Amino acid sequence: MPDNIQGSNLKRFMQRKPVKVIAVCSGKGGVGKTNVASNIAVALGSRGRNTCLLDADLSLANVDVLLGLQPRFNLSHVVEGEAELKDTILRGPRNIRIVPASSGNFCMTDLPPAAQVGIIQAFSELTNQPEVMIVDTAAGISPKVARFVQAAQHPVVVVRDEPASLTDAYALIKVFSQHYGVSRFHVVTNQCRTTREGRALYGKLARVTDSYLDVVLRHLGDIPQDDYLVKAVQEQRAVVDAYPRSASGEAFQRVAANIDAMPAAREASGGIEFFLERLLMADNASRGKVA
Ligand SMILES: Nc1ncnc2c1ncn2[C@@H]1O[C@H](COP(=O)(O)OP(=O)(O)O)[C@@H](O)[C@H]1O
Ligand SMILES: [Mg+2]
Repeated sequence: MPDNIQGSNLKRFMQRKPVKVIAVCSGKGGVGKTNVASNIAVALGSRGRNTCLLDADLSLANVDVLLGLQPRFNLSHVVEGEAELKDTILRGPRNIRIVPASSGNFCMTDLPPAAQVGIIQAFSELTNQPEVMIVDTAAGISPKVARFVQAAQHPVVVVRDEPASLTDAYALIKVFSQHYGVSRFHVVTNQCRTTREGRALYGKLARVTDSYLDVVLRHLGDIPQDDYLVKAVQEQRAVVDAYPRSASGEAFQRVAANIDAMPAAREASGGIEFFLERLLMADNASRGKVA
């Protein structure tokens, strides 16, 4: 692991403002995870937060598609030496920065240690370090997603009012708590018709987790079913940017305000490079466990 980062540059890193890392996940796909991640990021941008959105989901309908951006490079080009990290980063609405998903088989945690150190250093050398990093993870309970969730300070589980979404969200919380030591989860309920339905959906999930698991859940917010969101998706824009006064736009702004109120990491472990280190170390640890 990159000891040199912890050693020689520690002082410099400790002077950095800590980054708040939010990993958005869901038990199943199609529940609105990418919309939640992107709109939270844009809403935080409009609150003046220096925000970075990391697309860690390789499936279709990526963040860049949702926001109408055309990435030229991604992290795999950085590793190949074909681009620098700053060339991969796109600017989105409200000046947020987006690191696009890497195509093909590339996975940051599969890289040899030297390349991992290279990526961590590239992030740490970014001028203007982000205050908040939102990660759009892949759906489901894979070890790769688990690593992002372990490394982030604040996992956010998106759940929709349909039986499969609820049971899959429960399964995700169960596996991440029992096998990966994650015990606190934020929940965003999505696509309910009313706030009351959103609260009831959260209540259903919290009742089963309270009964069977040793976890702490918190309802971070409720995003209503909203035709404006569908319209914004068709226009390849974030609804919070295109229709900020819509029901979902306002709901995303409330979620962003709640995130703003969350505590940031303690200084010494707070910088973006420490998030990446935790990510890569969690990977090594989980491989050790499997082997
Ligand atoms: N709050 C909502 N209101 C209306 N439609 C929604 C809402 N959230 C998600 N959707 C619909 O679900 C689709 C999938 O959303 P997406 O964020 O891509 O899901 P995921 O990333 O979980 O696969 C969107 O394109 C949109 O049509
Ligand atoms: Mg998605």
